[in-house]
Amino acid sequence: MNMQEQIAAVEAELGAAVAPTPDAVEAFRIGMLGKNGKVTALLDAFKNVPPEEKRLWGQRLNQLKQAARSRWEELKAAAEAGPASADDAVDATRPVLTAHAGSLHPISIVRQRIINVFGHIGFTVSQGPEVEDDRHNFGALNFPPEHPARDMQDTFFVQGHGPSGAGDMALRTHTSSVQVRVMEAGQPPIRTISPGRVYRNEAISARAHCMFHQVEGLYVDKGVGFAELKGTLDYFTRSMFGPEVAIRMRPSYFPFTEPSAEVDMSCTICGGKGCTVCKHSGWVEIMGCGMVDPAVLANCGIDPGVYSGFAFGMGVERIAQLLYRVPDLRLYWENDVRFLEQFTDGAFRG
Ligand code: PHE
Repeated sequence: MNMQEQIAAVEAELGAAVAPTPDAVEAFRIGMLGKNGKVTALLDAFKNVPPEEKRLWGQRLNQLKQAARSRWEELKAAAEAGPASADDAVDATRPVLTAHAGSLHPISIVRQRIINVFGHIGFTVSQGPEVEDDRHNFGALNFPPEHPARDMQDTFFVQGHGPSGAGDMALRTHTSSVQVRVMEAGQPPIRTISPGRVYRNEAISARAHCMFHQVEGLYVDKGVGFAELKGTLDYFTRSMFGPEVAIRMRPSYFPFTEPSAEVDMSCTICGGKGCTVCKHSGWVEIMGCGMVDPAVLANCGIDPGVYSGFAFGMGVERIAQLLYRVPDLRLYWENDVRFLEQFTDGAFRG
């Protein structure tokens, strides 16, 4: 160590010194300023400094000696004053470490809001397995054997997990499978929603993912008609997005509903004037729905001569996208804390 480094090391030691008792203060004095003390040793070394540097080091060493003396006096005064009370030890000016609280994932927040909205009008929550058999995902729902959804292109089949070996189990492609289970398990009135993860064999892009979340709903009772379906979905979209929002229905096709419809909502981003999100149409598609096909009721042990019902299904990511205006689906699953931290339960209106 050169002279500069030695001085700096002793200065650091002076600053860090603790000496709670008079004995410790004396030990400090001897260790620094005594005959063999560290400061004394540096003062002795002064005689070896080349003449042209004497002025510089003379000043520095004098400062060091002064610093050691005043530190000793400080410690001596503190030791004589007695031990500090616990209160004195608290330094209220010290910067605090801020606690880093976690937050709910935006998809969890939106899923819970959807559940709450339907909970208010008496819908219960049902759950089922993500690895599903052919009957619950397709067969009971009226998918003919050659339906393209049964193709490897669209569905992830799970090898060797079914009762008869390979290929008869799949990752569920929708939570309609849960509705089949609910209908099998009990008679109407049935009023339930099934939130959960679903899987489709899609290339991952800004607009599609191979895993996403759905909330599907089912209402079966005596005399349920299309008007109840429309009223329910109107209530849902206004509760979720605000009272000024309108819906419209377009005829569509699903194997398990007849008639079937696609539901569009007036674009919340531009208020219906036209923007890139609604592709300048003023409307965005938010879900599929329809009256439960009588054959599906019969497949599940419910008499279609007595009961009728409606069903609907929506993607939670899609709803979140319209609430939060996050255009790229992939952001939801990259787990970037800077993205996730922006969502709190009160961050959107409604
Ligand atoms: N199961 C359909 C889907 O996954 C959605 C749907 C549910 C449509 C219920 C109509 C009725 O796309």
